[in-house]
Amino acid sequence: MPTKLAAGNWKMNGVMASLSELDNLSTQMGTPECDVMICPPATLISAAATQTSDTPIAIGAQDCHAASSGAHTGDLSAPMLRDAGATAIIVGHSERRADHAESDADVRAKASAAIADALTAIVCVGEELHEREADKTLEIIGGQLAGSLPDDIQTGQLVVAYEPVWAIGTGKVPTVEQIAEVHDFIRETLIARYGADIGSEITLLYGGSVKASNATDIFKVAHVNGALVGGASLTAADFAPIVAALSAS
Ligand code: PGA
Repeated sequence: MPTKLAAGNWKMNGVMASLSELDNLSTQMGTPECDVMICPPATLISAAATQTSDTPIAIGAQDCHAASSGAHTGDLSAPMLRDAGATAIIVGHSERRADHAESDADVRAKASAAIADALTAIVCVGEELHEREADKTLEIIGGQLAGSLPDDIQTGQLVVAYEPVWAIGTGKVPTVEQIAEVHDFIRETLIARYGADIGSEITLLYGGSVKASNATDIFKVAHVNGALVGGASLTAADFAPIVAALSAS
């Protein structure tokens, strides 16, 4: 079975004072039967990693540059993020794809950079509303998987997050049937690409308006091994019940 993961993406939210939520989360979630990760803004990674070192909370990053060092003002490399305490990097989030025009090839290069530096790459894919309405969801997801995922991965190096763009931060959630259809498709695609041994073990996350109130139903869906959570990861009060729902699933 793939490892279950509840991952929180704080996006461009949080200052040092926000790290008290990590203590609250640690207290409220106890010892969960799933992996738990928070991806704070890069400014907080080092402090967050120090603060959570004695807890089950892992710390991840939200993006990286594909190169390991060089003349790229303002960017951060995978080795720098690992040095700061990250154990994983989200790559290809739809907000990066949209705000920074990241292509599938860019995302694949970033995922490869993360993996080359012994970090887990959490690769995001997802269709826009007009693509779903045109019945192109699986075609879009298939194209993103083909273009964004690196070749030659080992178990534990890759997590795939399905995040329909229209469900992110909107309160709109696909039906469990719609989630099931895409997650079945992603699993089949990964098995075809990497073989059954590796493809069956890759953790698949659903993301997009996950909350305590819908988490239990989402985690019942086959091939949903966890969630990538934005807004509801910012406070322990919202995130701990999601961790508990995954733990119990
Ligand atoms: P949301 O964001 O939970 O706020 O919808 C999810 C994400 O972007 O990962």
